[in-house]
Amino acid sequence: MENIVIHGQKRLNGEIEVHGSKNSALPILAATALVNGVSEIHNCPRLSDVEAAIKILAHLGCRVSRTDHTVTVDASGMNGCEIPDALMREMRSSVVFLGAILGRAKEAKLSTPGGCEIGLRPIDLHLSAMEQLGAMLKEDAGKLQFTAPDGLTGARITLTFPSVGATENIIIAAATAKGRTVLTNAAREPEISDLADFLNACGARIHGAGDSTVVIDGVETLHGTSHTVIPDRIAASTYLLAGAVTQGRICVRDIIPAHLGALLPVLKEAGCDLRCSGRWICLSAPPRLHRVKMTRTMPYPGFPTDVQAPLSAMLTVADGTSVIVENIFESRYKHAGELVRFGAKISVEGRTEVIEGVPYLTGVHTTAPDLRGGFALMIAGLAAHGETVLSGVEHIDRGYEAPEAVLASLGADVKRVQDYGREKQAYEQKCEQADNDNPTESADGKHTVSTAPPEYIETDNTAHGA
Ligand code: UD1
Repeated sequence: MENIVIHGQKRLNGEIEVHGSKNSALPILAATALVNGVSEIHNCPRLSDVEAAIKILAHLGCRVSRTDHTVTVDASGMNGCEIPDALMREMRSSVVFLGAILGRAKEAKLSTPGGCEIGLRPIDLHLSAMEQLGAMLKEDAGKLQFTAPDGLTGARITLTFPSVGATENIIIAAATAKGRTVLTNAAREPEISDLADFLNACGARIHGAGDSTVVIDGVETLHGTSHTVIPDRIAASTYLLAGAVTQGRICVRDIIPAHLGALLPVLKEAGCDLRCSGRWICLSAPPRLHRVKMTRTMPYPGFPTDVQAPLSAMLTVADGTSVIVENIFESRYKHAGELVRFGAKISVEGRTEVIEGVPYLTGVHTTAPDLRGGFALMIAGLAAHGETVLSGVEHIDRGYEAPEAVLASLGADVKRVQDYGREKQAYEQKCEQADNDNPTESADGKHTVSTAPPEYIETDNTAHGA
């Protein structure tokens, strides 16, 4: 079993790049199934969810290859229309393949994605939209079978909630439907504009993606293209929060700062100094973070639900009481119980989480409850005194590429280990040796933020500059 082991209290310092957006890469890879030709997708992150999408494409009869961060999909010989149960279970967002399969093969078979670690994830909006585009649906014991023998036909569709996945499925399905589709109350996430940019480069006619009304004029076929996925705004946000919790000074490069528009005021309220340019954000955190009075998750451009758990972790050591309201998913506080084990003071009632900042956390053995909640526990581990051992690492690998390497490049003491018992013994020997050699330095010679658990971190102002 793999673990991530963190020895906390190391101030993060330095510069990183983030990988391509998972939430863009997934619908774009799904959309390649609609293309009668070869799609070359660059900046495709190395994540288990992306690997699952690649397996689905291969199962559908597409020829897929990957070189580093480029995935090439030749869908010209696609001959399948079914996603087997095992692959549906491997990636919960595999429903985003529905529109592409149906558009290309005129039929699609899949099972319902089932429950999810962040609450029930119904797909009613996806199903009803496909029916509005002319597909017939038969449902039997969790199996969904769609048919559209004469192809799909454009329609006026209004979503009752701006679901990201449903918006993507509709855009993909409508791209080659007959006639015009007008989608209102569409989600406005940057990943939707990225998907539309890819499809338009393939010959689609999609207007208004990124706004709440999207107009899609169906075209007969799509041709191959080459596309670069946008940077991952959620990963960028997560690393900024990790920097903040360690009193760090970090720069995140090659991102689109406007995509982090809702996080920046929150970081400022927490006392962080921020500098942004067209492609980067630099953060310098204060000796003690301030509380953030109220954060509400909302559809884009509001505060992203995917950043809620990492923010909760950061606020556990802020000075004062912070409140977060989760408006998107009904059960997205599974990390809270684990944060309490670090010594955090958190209470959750319904959709509201109240975090009373404590002076310090103490490392624990803990398990990632889900993707973002898992990284939240890593953030707690970075702030905590002592050792944190995290299991359930496979959740984190769904959305963050080699997070231990990224954090280590910033000076964190974070490792992925296969055999925790053996690593622990080696670490203790190293500490003992370091103590013998130089009683004032840490085992790895890195700058330690503080050595005294009961008082909060003493800041070295020279490390922060003026
Ligand atoms: C996408 C993101 C996910 C993010 C979420 C919200 C991907 C791969 N995943 O997920 O990281 O947390 O957006 O920003 O892009 N709903 C229904 N019926 C439906 C569809 C959704 O009731 O048919 C509800 C969901 O239960 C949830 C809310 O709508 O409460 C938002 O879901 P949605 O926007 O669809 O999220 P996903 O596309 O699944």
